[in-house]
Amino acid sequence: MGSSSCSPLPSPGPREAPLTGPGEGGGLGLGSLILDEDEWPGRAAGGRYERGAAVRHIELRKWADVFVVAPLDANTLTKLAVGLCDNCLTCVWRAWDTTRPVVLAPAMNTLMWQHPFTRRHLRALAADAGAGHIPAHLGDDALLAQINDRSPTLRIVGPVTKTLACGDTGVGAMSEVPDIVAAVQTMLARAQAA
Ligand SMILES: Cc1cc2nc3c(=O)[nH]c(=O)nc-3n(C[C@H](O)[C@H](O)[C@H](O)COP(=O)(O)O)c2cc1C
Repeated sequence: MGSSSCSPLPSPGPREAPLTGPGEGGGLGLGSLILDEDEWPGRAAGGRYERGAAVRHIELRKWADVFVVAPLDANTLTKLAVGLCDNCLTCVWRAWDTTRPVVLAPAMNTLMWQHPFTRRHLRALAADAGAGHIPAHLGDDALLAQINDRSPTLRIVGPVTKTLACGDTGVGAMSEVPDIVAAVQTMLARAQAA
């Protein structure tokens, strides 16, 4: 998980714009997988940014109708909460139009999920999404329900309980994909109705 990718959804929505860039076949057509390396082709070989070249994370930010991270690991949750932008995904987030919908599906070990950092970061994201003050003392379910009720643009699809990658059994696994898709559809419909 050392590098991240920005993966546009297949549906372009009303703001569809051609994502083009330098280099042979440099267009970033719909459905393409964009890697950190694509932000700055040739950087590893000493290449330098050339004035006028495409800046992928800004193109993606202007193009996207919805920002979805599934799974959202503890590391990236932290970056989103504090604004750290050291890869393509987090640069898109740092430039994000906060009036557009966001769907996050956290996934992490139970002990990481239960750590105070997690709720601190979720509450920070909710505050930035217009939720106002969310009390710190709430249990998991109440916390996520309040965040989702009060944030016009943010939907957190909470993790589920099962056996995790580390072998522990507990809460922390990414929610089922149909539940995440349903959340995306709900948020897109809400945005279109607004
Ligand atoms: C097999 C394996 C599974 C992992 N699963 C998760 C996970 O589900 N959630 C999480 O927060 N971190 C998980 N980690 C730890 C991440 O790899 C680590 O936090 C990494 O820094 C994430 O980087 P990224 O946010 O740039 O993807 C896992 C690590 C390993 C080796």
